[in-house]
Amino acid sequence: MIRAKIIGTGHFLPARVMTNDDWAKRVDTSDEWIVTRTGIRERHIASDSEATSDLVCEASKQALDAAQVDKNSLDLIIVGTISGDTAYPSTANWVQKKMGIKPIPSFDIGAACSGFLYGLILANSFIKTGVAKRILVAGAEIMTKIINWEDRNTCVLFGDGAGAVVLEATEGDTGIISTCWGADGNLGELLYQPAGGSAIPASIESVQKRLHTVHMKGNEVFKHAVLRMQEAAVEAIRLAGITSDDISLYIPHQANIRIIEATIKRAKIPIEKTYINIDKIANISSATIPIALDQAFRENRIKPGDNVLLSSFGAGFTWAGVVVRF
Ligand code: ACO
Repeated sequence: MIRAKIIGTGHFLPARVMTNDDWAKRVDTSDEWIVTRTGIRERHIASDSEATSDLVCEASKQALDAAQVDKNSLDLIIVGTISGDTAYPSTANWVQKKMGIKPIPSFDIGAACSGFLYGLILANSFIKTGVAKRILVAGAEIMTKIINWEDRNTCVLFGDGAGAVVLEATEGDTGIISTCWGADGNLGELLYQPAGGSAIPASIESVQKRLHTVHMKGNEVFKHAVLRMQEAAVEAIRLAGITSDDISLYIPHQANIRIIEATIKRAKIPIEKTYINIDKIANISSATIPIALDQAFRENRIKPGDNVLLSSFGAGFTWAGVVVRF
């Protein structure tokens, strides 16, 4: 059977680090509130000159190096992002140009925090059906350029960064074992960026009202996040034909430590088998899972034969679950 195997991973975080105390100097918040409610302690912030594609290029170079394959052996680039360089072309196209990759199909996925897993699921299908053999999938965000820096309800939650993987067609037992995904557009307005698209084009008024930034009803989103993250995790395990005991490592989307704790309780996954880095990087939407995956590799937390579970929840709402056997 042909499977999509992850043969290399990489990640990049901008140099500047902003702590909770730094935020407390700008808005009415505190380190104590942010840590207790979210688990976040600090986040990386991109510079004015950095665009999302720059972060993807750095993460992708690492992933290609780790995979020991040439950039021009890729036949597809997919980037999950909601904070791309430009409305169009896609960030994937800017990456292709900046990395000097030959003309190959390249596109973005706008599934918010599920963007990377949606990309992985699509790439898996392309590989299984022979559409492509070697694919670069990245998740990348500069969330700090699309948040309202005066809204304490949202500004403290997000950070910037990118993660990338190289997937290759392989025969055998390793690779992506199961996938599931879903979306519910009825709940879109609980977490969205109202302006800047065709519904409310950019205008002086839309900018003055900060309508081009993240708007979120946090406590409503929280309830759905717990439910869907857990459902996606359980379904991906079931479809893999294994049990939660067979999971060696769980990498959840990092939006809130309380969401992660509630999810693992329901999915029966111990905290020791759960990868948590939200304290250091905050919520980087589509980038959190590929960043954590690469960090877990480099910390030797993933070994041959391990079943690694990934699950996400994000704006849309969107959710997804994937089991990968290494
Ligand atoms: N500092 C201090 N107080 C704050 C802050 C802050 N930074 N932010 C909010 N508060 C206050 C609120 O004003 C409110 O005060 P009030 O009771 O006087 O009105 C109080 O804290 C409680 O607010 P809640 O929103 O109810 O707080 P909650 O415990 O729900 O935590 C949070 C908020 C962290 C946002 C949480 O709801 C959450 O994590 N939601 C889910 C986020 C998520 O998963 N998003 C999906 C992925 S993101 C994406 O797709 C782009």
